[in-house]
This record gives sequence, structure tokens and C-alpha cells, in this order.
Amino acid sequence: MTIFRGTFIDTPDNPFGGAALRVGTDTGLLVQDGVIVARSPFSDLRRAHPAEPVVDLSDGIVLPGFVDTHVHFPQIRAVGGLGLPLLEWLDRYALPEEARMADAEYAKGVATEFVNGLAAAGTTSALVFGAHYSDAVDALFTAASSVGLRVTSGLVLSDRLLRPELLTTPVRAYAESLALANRWHNVGRNRYAVTPRFSLSCTDDLLATCRELMEAIPDALFTSHVNENEAEIASVADLFGGSDYVTTYDRHGLVDRRTVLAHNVHPTDVELKTLATSGATVAHCPTSNAALGSGLFPLHRHLQYGVRVALGSDVGAGTGFSLLKEGLQAYFCQQLLGDQGRPLTAAHLLYLSTTAGAEALDLPQVGHLSVGQQFDAQLLRPAPDSPLAVALQHAEDTEEALARIFTLGAPTDIQAVWIAGDLLN
Ligand code: GUN
Ligand code: ZN
Repeated sequence: MTIFRGTFIDTPDNPFGGAALRVGTDTGLLVQDGVIVARSPFSDLRRAHPAEPVVDLSDGIVLPGFVDTHVHFPQIRAVGGLGLPLLEWLDRYALPEEARMADAEYAKGVATEFVNGLAAAGTTSALVFGAHYSDAVDALFTAASSVGLRVTSGLVLSDRLLRPELLTTPVRAYAESLALANRWHNVGRNRYAVTPRFSLSCTDDLLATCRELMEAIPDALFTSHVNENEAEIASVADLFGGSDYVTTYDRHGLVDRRTVLAHNVHPTDVELKTLATSGATVAHCPTSNAALGSGLFPLHRHLQYGVRVALGSDVGAGTGFSLLKEGLQAYFCQQLLGDQGRPLTAAHLLYLSTTAGAEALDLPQVGHLSVGQQFDAQLLRPAPDSPLAVALQHAEDTEEALARIFTLGAPTDIQAVWIAGDLLN
């Protein structure tokens, strides 16, 4: 057993329901086999466990590991392709890079960079859009296993409209997805997600195959994109006989509590109602929405309907792995919406990037640092005299300190990351 000593900030209760941030100043967490088995003021815990080794983190601030609910593994080398809307960006930047994943050696290199990038940003769990090629998805799960990240991912499926080398057929999609799930689902910390790219690039036959896969893979997640860009939405309506976007998935039984749909910038009220009653989660990806000019995310409407929302980096349309940056951009986005926006505090940003994501991914054992939870955590300790260090010295209270962390923090300020109590290298 090990005692971790420090200031721990987390959101075990939902700030959108009025709960306050939890701040544990000079607190001790006793961790056994990766699980937090006791939590109390450090002096009390020390007295009760005088012989256990202490890891002293008092010179920084400890947050739960981040949970990224939407990120594309094959797009890390496409980050920074600015200036285009979604469909043009896919053709010009994302899809040429995704086609390179046909080369398994290339994919291995990208997979290593990807998992290292996530971990360095304090992200310990992620729902990852995989690649269109099985070998590349194997490379991702292999790399995630060697770091110890909690990765849920799958083979990306499309059978129309994209460049031909990225297309599959329903029969092939079924066989290859199931083979991957048999190799990786619930093996170590890996899990499988059935992953059609978006209904724009998927026929009804392929979406029906996705439903069969959901039935064949117990407890798989389902993930895709929805309502991101107005031109995209109009094309989906044309292709599906005027149907709304959520219904293109829902009519195949693909919208339920295990569903995570990215973006939803332009939903109708009917779609929000469907998402709320089904228990699906929307992955809000604010830097991506800003970079592609997709629009301002209507968070308030989601919350009014009771739709679950968490955060995604959406690398590579998103601008990096850091959920600190996504949190800040989520805040900006709501500010820009004026009267229509939902004002956000630092507690909301932390909740969206930790507990909300853990719930979306059905990982109840992570997302906050209570007794019984896994010790997935990150230590923020900026370099002395850095702008963040200076700002933290002058914060009046811990909520203000957390707001400064979201405003000024970056992966370079994260000194250490643990998953299930293990320090990552
Ligand atoms: N919709 C379909 N594919 C993609 C993608 O790769 N990125 C984003 N942002 N939206 C998509
Ligand atoms: Zn995406």
C-alpha cells in the first residue's frame, strides 16, 4: 500500500446539479492494488498507517486523470490543418493521412506517438476513433496496452463517398470488427467500440451490420459523428430521405446508453429528446468546432433536455490532446453564445473532462478520487516562475486556482500521471 499526500481536486458530484468542487487540502489517499481504500486528512491517515510509504505531492495540485470521449488516432500528424470546413478538411487533411494507415509499420509509429501524447496531456481514459485498417487498430491497442491507458476503440467503417481505399463492405466490416473485438475487447484495459465514421459515409446496410456487431460483442460501445456541419447535415438528409441525423442511427437501434456521438452542434429539439430518453452521450469538441467553423455548441439546450455531455479533443480537427484547452474553449464558446450560453465555472470544466467522460464511457471506477475508485490521477506542477506558477501563487482559493489551471495550463505543466496507482514513464 502507498499513501499519496497532497491537494486533490475533483467532482464526485455533478456541478450542473449544484454540487461544489471537492477540495482535499493536505489530504492522504491510501492506495492498494490501484484502488483508493482510504481517504482522510493526511495526519489522520498517517497515524492510522504509520509504516506505509508516502508519495508527497504537496508541491502541486492533483486532479483525476482526464477522460477524452472523442479523439482520432490516425489524425495526429494532421493537426493544424486550418482554414477549411469539415468536408473539405476531411478530403484535404484527414483522409489522406488515414489512408497511410494501410502501412502497418507507419501505423505503429503513429500509435506510439498517439498514446504518448494522450498520457502526456493527463488523459488516462479515451474513446478513440480507430483506423479503417485492422492492422492499424491492432497497433493502437498494442501501444495502449504497453502504456496501460484505458482505451476503447474500434475499426472505422465506411462503405460510400470516401476515397475508395478507405471503403469496406458490410460483410467484411462484420468479420474484421468481430475479429478485432475477439482479440481486444475486455482484454487488459482495452474495450471495443463499433465505429461507423458517420452516416454520410455509411449505407443502411452497413448501419444494420453495426447493430449486428453490437449484439455480437457484449457491452461494446457505439460511437460516431452527428450534426457537426450544416452542409454535412443537408447531405445526410438527402441520402436518408429527409430523415434527421440522429434517426439515421436510431432506426438501427444504435442510440442508447452505450452510444457516444461527437459534436451535435446543430440538433433539432426532436433529436435532443431522442438523445435524452435513450441516455446517449454527446462528446462536445470545442476546439474542433471552432477550428472548422462548425458552430457554437448549444450546451444549454442539451442540459435542458437532459442529454449527457462530456468533452472530446477531436484531434486532429481539434487542436491538441489537452482537455485543459478543450475546457477553456468550452467556456469561451458558452460566453460567445451570450444569452443562449450556459455560464461555466472551473468546477463544470473539471466535471466535463473527468467524471462526465467516465460515465459516458461506462467506466464508473474512474473520474474522481473517492474511496473505492481507481487511482487514475495527474500532478500539475508548473515550472517555477512560469505564468501558471505565478498565477497560482496569487489565486485566492482553490476554485480560482483551478480556473487558472484551465486558462494557462498545458501538458508541460503535468509532472506525473498514474493509472491504477502505477506511475507512467
Ligand atoms: N466526421 C466524419 N469524420 C470526421 C472526422 O474525422 N473529424 C470530424 N471532426 N468530423 C468527422
Ligand atoms: Zn471526430
